[in-house]
Amino acid sequence: MRLEEHPILKFERGPQIEFYFEGKAMKAYLGETIAAALHANDVKILSHSAKTHSPRGLYCAIGNCSSCLMTVNGIPNVRVCVELIEAGDDVRIQKGKGDLL
Ligand code: FES
Repeated sequence: MRLEEHPILKFERGPQIEFYFEGKAMKAYLGETIAAALHANDVKILSHSAKTHSPRGLYCAIGNCSSCLMTVNGIPNVRVCVELIEAGDDVRIQKGKGDLL
């Protein structure tokens, strides 16, 4: 679901693009964060906790809490709540803490 209108804010949406979540093609708009694009495609589980493996989703949505760490284009520990989507991005759920580079 995406907000189409807001009484105060204006949305300036870029062109529609395609990206991949776990290998599945999905639509997004340039200018959205990866987390926003995933939520618009009904993906709410972004990671699992390293200790208890419980599902995690958006929490702070401003890049402070690390609840949304995912692997993007092979790079682990990307905070998808503040990272903008690009055409062709390969977004994957990260297992545990992710591999260190
Ligand atoms: S949801 Fe908190 S850092 Fe992304």
